[in-house]
Amino acid sequence: MKTRFLCQQLGTQYPIIQAPMAGGILSADFIAKVCEFGLLGSIPSGYLTLAQLDTLIQSVKSKTDKPFQVNLFVDHCEYPDKVAKPAEVIEIEKHLGIFTSLDCQLPKHPSASDIIDLVIAHQVPIISTTFGVLRAKDYQRYKDAGGQVMVTVNSLDEAHKVLSEANADMIVYQNALAGGHKGGFNDAEYDVEAVMLTLKRDYPYTQLIKSGGIVNQKDIVFALEKGFDGVQIGTGFLMTQESSASQTYKQALLGVCDDNQLMQTTSITGRQARGIVNELAMLELERSPLFPQQHYATKTIREHAKSHDLPQYQSLWAGNGAVNITSLPELEDYMFSLVYG
Ligand SMILES: Cc1cc2nc3c(=O)[nH]c(=O)nc-3n(C[C@H](O)[C@H](O)[C@H](O)COP(=O)(O)O)c2cc1C
Repeated sequence: MKTRFLCQQLGTQYPIIQAPMAGGILSADFIAKVCEFGLLGSIPSGYLTLAQLDTLIQSVKSKTDKPFQVNLFVDHCEYPDKVAKPAEVIEIEKHLGIFTSLDCQLPKHPSASDIIDLVIAHQVPIISTTFGVLRAKDYQRYKDAGGQVMVTVNSLDEAHKVLSEANADMIVYQNALAGGHKGGFNDAEYDVEAVMLTLKRDYPYTQLIKSGGIVNQKDIVFALEKGFDGVQIGTGFLMTQESSASQTYKQALLGVCDDNQLMQTTSITGRQARGIVNELAMLELERSPLFPQQHYATKTIREHAKSHDLPQYQSLWAGNGAVNITSLPELEDYMFSLVYG
């Protein structure tokens, strides 16, 4: 595992990336511990203000000298400050006794360009993008500062587009088993891995990282044997003692023993994401929801559910690999098992 080119490129000991997971699940301590172990820790910037991200980067830097990456939701759209909540969301708020307003505020998110300024200032060596690709100007600025860019894709078509336009140093191929949002950018269907691996024929020097359904050393070895250069793991890290997921969330994850307990849904945030089947995930909306409008429309419900231990109304993102996890190990033990079996 150790001698891989990807390790040289990432500056890690092992070709394993702790997936970025937005939503307050990963503390600076957690990310730094991952880096210290020799894996690549990831700071998720999704939903954070620039000041919050700045603090998180500083905090990780104060705990480790090892490389880490910052993940960006890249979206070049403009959004209104306020949107009307869908009637179905209001109905749930009324059912839970928490209805106060017909609409919700959308906070201003920092632009990708602002985040690039920040990561350059902090000399963050690697970034990854999700939902989109950087504008050429920002990509070049970051490259000129010595950084490397990973781009999340779900299909060969997306990977070809990124690489033919020279917009990435590494590709994270996220498959249909992956927990959380579908991270590609042109709504392409997931390609099967065999198709994805043909990318190596056209771009033999581009490092290809597999993400989705990987939870143990056997899964890692399988991915490497198939031809991937490394792996990215989300749900496995989520299910460690040290992740900041709530106990209700962790217990729900432990209760997953069948693929049928997981589903793709757009009703929670407006984008397709995989998680545990519950009332919120199954909510049927008359109009297709939009991202991030729906994320903020369901925020009150999710926050209430979290503070009242109501799993039916939380976002319980999880990949299919949860089926193969039967305990909540300590982070150190989990990483040890990934590397040494
Ligand atoms: C709770 C959760 C939050 C996530 N948040 C992000 C995110 O902020 N940015 C991102 O690129 N991917 C995010 N993902 C997707 C992961 O990066 C990764 O693709 C996925 O977890 C891999 O599948 P696995 O969960 O089966 O390991 C998230 C996944 C989960 C489970």
